[in-house]
Amino acid sequence: MFDIHNHLLAGLDDGPQTQEETLEICKAAEEFEVHKIVATPHYLEGQYEPEGELIRKKIEETNDTLQKNNIQVEILPGHEVYLSENTINKIKKEDILFINDSKYILLELPMNYIPEYLDEFFYDLSVMGYKPIIAHPERNKEVIKNPGILYRWVKEGVIFQLNAGSLFGVYGPEVKKCAIDLVDNYLVQVIASDCHGESMAGLEWMARAKRKLEDICGSYTIQFFTNAEYIINDEEIICEEPTHFESKSFWNFLDKFNFSERDNTKKD
Ligand SMILES: [Fe+2]
Repeated sequence: MFDIHNHLLAGLDDGPQTQEETLEICKAAEEFEVHKIVATPHYLEGQYEPEGELIRKKIEETNDTLQKNNIQVEILPGHEVYLSENTINKIKKEDILFINDSKYILLELPMNYIPEYLDEFFYDLSVMGYKPIIAHPERNKEVIKNPGILYRWVKEGVIFQLNAGSLFGVYGPEVKKCAIDLVDNYLVQVIASDCHGESMAGLEWMARAKRKLEDICGSYTIQFFTNAEYIINDEEIICEEPTHFESKSFWNFLDKFNFSERDNTKKD
């Protein structure tokens, strides 16, 4: 397996703080048959801004240690960029590492809303020849309310990455439900661990996700894993046609209820 989203490098973000922890994660990865991992430390302006040169140096040192210890895992470069209006400028200044130096960039949306400049950002990125991968959309509150809002972007070629742990309720029941709805409607295309090193759970969830996904989407399951390989190799991913999806979530129900309440008030 290939993992395109992992915070295993020590001392760069809220992942592990020691090289020993990094090696423990790599040993767990080997055990769960994850043999290539993209290190994606957070790039969050004002908080985490690890430089590409430093990331590459840490990766080189880690890969050397892995080889010496005969651990069959290779670390590759990347960033997870928290989206801001300044992200395009950061890309132009070459401050950002793309996934294994491919055309794919891993982006994180704010948790509570969808930025109004998102379409403009996607357009600017496409003009530059790059492709966005949005990390864990199932954790965004607007997506939880209405998973179907991703449909338009999937049709436009935006890639959405599911966290394996979301399928098992690691981030709560609402995120789990959203994750299943997204898989069921082909609105996510690739799976990753988003391992932060506090435990090896992210990687274990990756290993366990296959069976879970097979229950939801049958033979399409394999695409979640092969797409990770295509991304690392800078190849085109394979997508199923997404389905229109109207959420029947509690929040949507509540929105409609409030709407009819207002209508009733008007009638009075
Ligand atoms: Fe992450």
